[in-house]
Amino acid sequence: MIKFWLVFFMVLSNGFYSTGAGMNNSTVPDSVNIGILYSFNTTIGRILQIALEAAIDDVNSDPSILGKTQLNILMQEDSKYRGFLSIAETLQLMAKRTVAIIGPQSTITAHVISHVANELQVPLLSFSATDPTLSPVQFPFFIRTAQNDLYMMTAIAELVAFYGWREVIAIFVDDDQGRNGIAALGDKLSERRCKISYKAPMTAEPTKEEITDVLVQVALAESRIIVLHTNTIWGPKIFSVAQNLGMMGTGYVWIATSFLTTLLDTASPLPPDEMQDIQGVVTLRMYTAETELKRRFVSRWKNLTRGNTSDGPMGLTAYCLYAYDTVWLLARAIDTFFKQGNRITFSNDSKLSELHGDNLHLDALNIFNEGNILRSCILGVNMTGVTGQVRYTSDCNLVNPAFEIVNVIGSGVRRIGYWSNHSGLSVVPPESLYSKPTNRSNQKLNPVIWPGDTVQKPRGWVFPNNGKRLKIGIPKRVSYREFVSQAPGTDVFKGFCIDVFLAAVNLLPYGVPYNFVPFGDGHSNPSNSELVRLITAGVYDAAVGDITITTERTKMVDFTQPFIESGLVVVTPVKKMESSAWAFLRPFTPLMWAVTAIFFLVVGAVVWILEHRLNDDFRGPPKKQVVTILWFSFSTMFFAHRENTVSTLGRLVLLIWLFVVLIINSSYTASLTSILTVQQLASPIKGIESLVNSHDRIGYLQGSFTRNYLIEELGIDESRLVPLTTPEETAKALKDGSHKGGVAAYIDERAYIELFLASRCDFTIVGQEFTRNGWGFAFPRDSPLAIDLSTAILELAENGDLQRIHDKWLLSRACLSQGAKLEVDRLNLKSFWGLYLVAGFACFLALFIYLIQIMRQYKKHYSEELESSPSPSQQSSGSSRVRTFMSFVDEKEEDVKNRSKRRQMERISYRSNDGGSSSAMC
Ligand code: SER
Repeated sequence: MIKFWLVFFMVLSNGFYSTGAGMNNSTVPDSVNIGILYSFNTTIGRILQIALEAAIDDVNSDPSILGKTQLNILMQEDSKYRGFLSIAETLQLMAKRTVAIIGPQSTITAHVISHVANELQVPLLSFSATDPTLSPVQFPFFIRTAQNDLYMMTAIAELVAFYGWREVIAIFVDDDQGRNGIAALGDKLSERRCKISYKAPMTAEPTKEEITDVLVQVALAESRIIVLHTNTIWGPKIFSVAQNLGMMGTGYVWIATSFLTTLLDTASPLPPDEMQDIQGVVTLRMYTAETELKRRFVSRWKNLTRGNTSDGPMGLTAYCLYAYDTVWLLARAIDTFFKQGNRITFSNDSKLSELHGDNLHLDALNIFNEGNILRSCILGVNMTGVTGQVRYTSDCNLVNPAFEIVNVIGSGVRRIGYWSNHSGLSVVPPESLYSKPTNRSNQKLNPVIWPGDTVQKPRGWVFPNNGKRLKIGIPKRVSYREFVSQAPGTDVFKGFCIDVFLAAVNLLPYGVPYNFVPFGDGHSNPSNSELVRLITAGVYDAAVGDITITTERTKMVDFTQPFIESGLVVVTPVKKMESSAWAFLRPFTPLMWAVTAIFFLVVGAVVWILEHRLNDDFRGPPKKQVVTILWFSFSTMFFAHRENTVSTLGRLVLLIWLFVVLIINSSYTASLTSILTVQQLASPIKGIESLVNSHDRIGYLQGSFTRNYLIEELGIDESRLVPLTTPEETAKALKDGSHKGGVAAYIDERAYIELFLASRCDFTIVGQEFTRNGWGFAFPRDSPLAIDLSTAILELAENGDLQRIHDKWLLSRACLSQGAKLEVDRLNLKSFWGLYLVAGFACFLALFIYLIQIMRQYKKHYSEELESSPSPSQQSSGSSRVRTFMSFVDEKEEDVKNRSKRRQMERISYRSNDGGSSSAMC
């Protein structure tokens, strides 16, 4: 009985499950309308149709998906695949109550139709409208079922950065797909500090003349890296014209977007002349992992295409794989849709029905009421298809975007590597890296054969305006001509800066055609800031000379690496130290002398106190003892004291004191040496701070950036600044001094000052360099020559040539080394009070211990006395205690005398014994 009810209950519950939570057979229709909108009249459209039909057949014949429901395909020929007709054809399809549409083919149609899809809530699934700006926020019903162009552009940007190129030229079709793709490329390049230097748009169907015009402009530009973003129809025509213009030869780099791989995969092999036009081109293909499903589909492909096209079997492109997976993705989503118990219903929107009677018949369009649910089902699918894993990320893009990078060589292509959003460029398939952490530090690609049949990586740029030589501005200096100067009456320039430039240019792997053009009137030093400004104005293509790299100038031009360091320094006159009979007193301040003398006396006295009761050397008549104290203390200055110290405390004090004396002696010697050899500053200016705070006049090199720096950065009043042109003028102004119409100090870069001081010993640099500038060669912004010359300058620095050129022109002699010898400060007590504190404390401690010892001995002696003389009157009297203490001291002294006499006697008898034994031995 129990068993019966159990079986009854289970049957009942199973029945509820299948009709409630599972597929409700009453709501599942026999067929579902799916629209497909593609241009099947093109070669690529035909093969896409084959892939789509194969997928529909597979879905409809697979009982595990959609049960008895069949996908009813409504194919609409998108005859024009872009523009108004294409839009009208899509609307026709939407009027047929389709729950979803696979298409449109082009981005242009997708942009318009997505608005309609939003209104009708019909998902559009496109594997070819890959424009990154078709945003899921603006167009939630547009679902891209292939890789977003954003990733392809990221891959190209990484490729450009990988090869170290900075600028690219973009040739593209001037439509939504072309413009938006190239805008994404620009963004991705700028993230890698590269850029599109020239954009060359073309009309959608350009004539040969138009292509020629565009390519001629491209050839005149500086960059030789060309990114071509067009389609399978016009791509070969552009390459053909480029070949005729000689733009497929050595030095050029062509990076074609995925249209080229689509063309090569579909129609491979291309006719030999078309293959010839694209030799060395690098192109990308959407990457699909090598899975069993893909292998099976690829082996089916020949059979699928054989009967389908008049041209025989056709190549399989990545788009075919995505087309196949798109149908499966939609089928799975509809399956889930029904399994969730949803029904397909359509309704007339009030706004659309208002259009009733209109000749456009827009009221025929219906809203798919459950469109939102189907959209969620599509975005929630997680399946493995022929393209690999099909799943959407939260930003509605397919997971794991990746591309193959291939190089066109001979009659086919060779894979040079992969790009994946996860790990960038690699030579191993991306799926092998997905399990590893993201690592973009190890980017790698196989070698490429570039246009011109070369493996040498193209430089990526040429000098613009072919045939013209670079106009290099050279400052025509009138002073410090060792740096740069023009030989009178000639066009020849020489000097340190010129030699560095020539040496760097010689290291470049290519020739640089240039002319030096003098800048300046030849009477005064020209302003290098103006020279730099003229580069931005296009007057000069570069500037070479003693041009300081300053913040202001780097806003206008690009500088090479500095080839010499040259910070600003302050120069003032010096005078020789006047000889003085009392120069020996200068090392110490008076206080220091006084404290030192007092300490000598104190230590002498302390040692005397500690020693004189035990040590004969410190005994004798008072006069003798005073002399001993003085002699002992001052002789420690030279470690020449002859008195022995016998007490432990005395030795301790002496040890510490001798250490103090050692330090004081050495400091005195060092200081005196400096004082007797240094020069003295003629002015109180000790560096830039004291100069800024004074009201003195300051000289600067005429034409130099220094003037602006002093005014703007240091806030020095303009009236205090005096321009000085030549070293002679500078020397005179410094000698005259600020109050006699000259200057108190001169501020200039160290490079000039080294030359200035080389033959002028009566001036010196005070303080430190207070800026850290360098000199570089100036080029227009983003000039690739600046980068290559920077590398060359670093090479010169590393191989020692830069130093050799420096020594040839600027080897400084004479007085430079004296620059460091300036006034020495006297030694004061501040530096030594620690030593004196230690010595003083040692004295105090020793005296204290000594006093305690004496007191203890006295106490002992006094109690012994009391025991031997019992008279109470004697015990109570204070004066008698003092007498007792004195007699105790006398006795002790007597003891010491006796002990020392005994020791003397012992020494005498020991010597006589020793002499006896010695003579006995003799
Ligand atoms: N080096 C200085 C400057 O560049 C003077 O020529 O301004």
